[in-house]
Amino acid sequence: MDKIIVEGGRTLKGEVHISGAKNAALPILISSLLTDGLNTFSNVPQLQDIHSTALLLENLGARVETEDNTVRIDAGGQIQYKAEYDLVRKMRASVLVLGPLVARLGKARVSLPGGCAIGARPINLHLKGLAALGASIELKHGYVEASAGRLKGADIYFDVVTVTGTENLMMAAALAKGTTLLRNAAREPEIVALADTLISMGADIQGAGTSVITINGVSLLKPIEATIIPDRIEAGTFMMAAVLTRGSITVLNAEPDHLGALIDKLRLTGAEIEIDDKTVHVKTKADIKSVDIKTQPYPGFPTDMQAQFMVLMSIANGTSMISETIFENRFIHVSELRRMGADIQVSGDFAIVRGVPNLSAAEVMASDLRASASLILAGLVAEGTTEVNRVYHLDRGYQSLEKKFAALGAAIRRVK
Ligand code: EPZ
Repeated sequence: MDKIIVEGGRTLKGEVHISGAKNAALPILISSLLTDGLNTFSNVPQLQDIHSTALLLENLGARVETEDNTVRIDAGGQIQYKAEYDLVRKMRASVLVLGPLVARLGKARVSLPGGCAIGARPINLHLKGLAALGASIELKHGYVEASAGRLKGADIYFDVVTVTGTENLMMAAALAKGTTLLRNAAREPEIVALADTLISMGADIQGAGTSVITINGVSLLKPIEATIIPDRIEAGTFMMAAVLTRGSITVLNAEPDHLGALIDKLRLTGAEIEIDDKTVHVKTKADIKSVDIKTQPYPGFPTDMQAQFMVLMSIANGTSMISETIFENRFIHVSELRRMGADIQVSGDFAIVRGVPNLSAAEVMASDLRASASLILAGLVAEGTTEVNRVYHLDRGYQSLEKKFAALGAAIRRVK
């Protein structure tokens, strides 16, 4: 199993190009199932999760070709309605095939995604919404069995804001008969990107990006060409590396509008941030000031940047409070950061972080995607050599992270 070795203490400088967004690409690639022809997607990141999605779509009968950052998907042939456990267990987002399969075929048999390191992550709201659209839902032998005639528009309220729940039902409702309202919908940029893609396929959708989305069902969607938006979480990870290492990094091909909450908090730590169109320039010389954060649905502070921000606060001047409101078990990285000398107390959804002058390098274990990024960030500033194990977590969501850091001056390498 690969591991990443990081020598701490280098100041990072230079430019980094941001890849396409994993969490936009996954639902968009899957939306191909709603069309009966060849779709072409560019700026698709080269990630394990993208590879898993391609395998899943091929397993359902679509033809998939991947060439660098371009993915072509032809879902014009015979599409199956079964998504096997072996594929779904590798990537929870596979559950996103449920809506499109029921909408297109009138039936779907999709393995229930199991638990996850960061939380129970049930899909009850996906199923409740599909049932409201007229599908009969049964849970049998670890699978969701859904069947319906043509889905019918409905008024759906989400008890909790859910990103993939909103995406699944938006795709299902796009081919339903009549109008669907999604209330308390997620407002993430990835939702807007999926809605834009569906609209270019011929869907009739209003309000994506707000908490109420209106979908007037159509009978047919056509294949398209689309470009995946930049990855705001990857961009945020590099912006935090600039502050952590007291460096100066220019983040290229980003979408500053998607980074509002982070930019606000980084400025409060004392960082200087300049924005110029699709470029964000981050630098800091000063000591890092401690700042409290609370993760929330977009446009609040993203939970996918909580672990990385915690590293920043672990060497900040003062004490900060970090509250995680989205996932009930997303402080797993704390014990590894403590092994590197961080002073962090966890109580329920809160973590109290008392800044320490330095972190010390150690051999550490990644537990999930964003935790692994936080351990690499910690390694960049720790005294000595840090070894991050289980980096397969990292490869799920970051394209060549260590190469990009090395190009900015980090002493970092991957060991097979
Ligand atoms: C998406 O996950 C992202 N994944 C996650 O990114 C991200 O952390 C999360 O949204 C929150 O921003 C993708 O887009 C592929 P949710 P998702 O449904 O959709 C509860 C990363 O690191 N809930 O918005 O699965 C749920 O348990 C990943 O890239 C229900 O109770 O998250 C959680 O507490 C990690 N019932 C809350 O809602 C449901 O039916 C938000 O989860 C659905 C969700």
